[in-house]
Formats: sequence, C-alpha cells, structure tokens
Amino acid sequence: MYKILGIPLFLLIITFIIKREKPSVHTIVIKDTIIQKENDSIFNRLMDVVTHQRCMNCHPNDNIPKQGEEARQHILNISRGSNDKGFEATKCATCHQKENNSYSGVPGAPHWALAPLSMGWQNLSRRQIMERMLDPKLNGGKDHKALVKHMTEDPLVLWAWNPGVNINGEMREVPPLSEEEFKSVVLAWFENGAVIPPNQ
Ligand code: HEC
Ligand code: HEC
Repeated sequence: MYKILGIPLFLLIITFIIKREKPSVHTIVIKDTIIQKENDSIFNRLMDVVTHQRCMNCHPNDNIPKQGEEARQHILNISRGSNDKGFEATKCATCHQKENNSYSGVPGAPHWALAPLSMGWQNLSRRQIMERMLDPKLNGGKDHKALVKHMTEDPLVLWAWNPGVNINGEMREVPPLSEEEFKSVVLAWFENGAVIPPNQ
C-alpha cells in the first residue's frame, strides 16, 4: 500500500517544489530586465546629449570644426593645426575668448580647442562613440572617474548649456537634457558599471 502511494506522493512533492521555485526564478528575470531597461534609458539619455550638435561640432572625424545645428564647415576654412588650437594666424583663441561674445556671435569658453582626432565622434554609432570615449588609449588616458569629472566640470562641456547667440543674433540650441539631468545620468551610468546596451 505504501509502496503504491509512494510514487504519486513523490511526484506530488516534486511538482510542489518546482511550482514553488518558479515564481522566484521569474522575479529574478524580471528584475534583470528592469535593470537592463533602466540602463538602456540612462545610456540613451546620456547619448542624446553627446550626439547633440553643441558637442559634435567640436568632435569631428576630420580637421574642421563645424558650426550651427546643421554642422556647416567652419567659416574661413579654419582647421585644427598641429595642436588642435588652430594655425598661427588663425588660432582658435584669436576669435574665441573665455566667454561668448554676444555682439559678434563668436562663442567662447576657457581653453577653446578642437577635440583631438582620436576623440572624433561624427558619423559613428552610439556604441562606437562610447567605446572610443571609454578607451584610455584614445581618450587622453582617462579612467571612469576622470571621464565623469570631465563631463560634469569641464568648461567646454558646460558651455553647451550656455552657447550664446550665433552671428545672426539667434540663440544656439541647447542639448535636450538640462545640465543637472545630464550630470545625474552621467553619474548613474558610470555607477551602474558603464555598460553599453546591445543593439546600439
Ligand atoms: C569647443 C569645443 C568643444 C566642445 C563644445 C565640446 N568638447 Fe569635448 N573635448 C574638447 C577638447 C579640446 C577635448 C580634449 C581635452 C581634454 O581631453 O581635456 C575634449 C574631450 C572630451 C572628452 C574626453 C574623452 C573623449 O574621448 O572624448 C569628453 C568625454 C567630452 N569631450 C565630452 C563632451 C561633451 C559631452 C560635450 C557637449 C556637452 C563636449 N565634449 C563639447 C572640445 C570640445
Ligand atoms: C577668425 C575667427 C575665428 C577663428 C580663428 C576660429 N573661429 Fe570658430 N567661430 C568663429 C565664428 C564667428 C563663429 C560663429 C559662427 C556662427 O555662429 O555662425 C564660430 C563658431 C565656432 C563653432 C560653432 C559652435 C556651434 O556649436 O555652433 C565651433 C565648434 C568653433 N567655432 C570652433 C573653432 C575652433 C576649434 C577653432 C580653432 C581650430 C576656431 N573655431 C577658430 C570664428 C572663428
């Protein structure tokens, strides 16, 4: 009698255990998806700023700074020169001062220069841009901490939220996130391990 009951009882217990296990496995999967979704959204908000013209105009993949919302070639054929600060006669600092000039429409911030070619982002995918940015061989030897500091404190980065007027007296567009939002997504993404989501 016990022997006959034994097998169904055994199966019943197994089924019970499997049923009990299921919800917890399921929760873990959902949690991972939520974390990944959150990371994707943080990454994309960060990149919405990085790929904005205010940043991209100084991070071209050639030697010419770009201007305006449609990335026009810089007036007067200005080029990076040997040190990214322009040629002798056309140094960036000759025209670009420490502050925006609201009369002439020349934008300005301390140490105005073109980002080195290894930090060129134009025409790259979000993943490619971020891979470049994270690579100490290409980013000027910056670790994660230094990148966070650069993106939350450097005057050229912060200039994007105070870009002044162009030569026609029109306000330049600011990035789609506020300065404070950008700083918090930068911190959050790096704290989360700086994971580039797949399919970017
Ligand atoms: C006026 C030109 C200029 C603007 C505008 C500018 N940058 Fe840069 N950027 C530079 C220069 C020059 C460097 C290199 C200087 C250095 O490494 O300290 C640089 C370096 C960087 C780096 C270092 C790592 C790397 O691989 O690029 C990051 C990150 C960066 N910029 C982000 C931004 C973001 C984000 C914006 C817009 C919110 C921006 N920059 C706007 C000129 C600019
Ligand atoms: C002869 C003066 C002059 C020199 C030299 C010069 N610029 Fe400019 N730059 C301007 C003027 C004027 C504008 C504004 C154009 C406009 O708003 O239509 C401008 C705009 C820009 C912008 C556009 C910002 C934006 O997002 O729209 C960038 C980037 C820039 N310059 C980078 C540089 C760099 C880097 C150098 C040195 C390699 C340099 N410039 C040298 C006069 C100059």
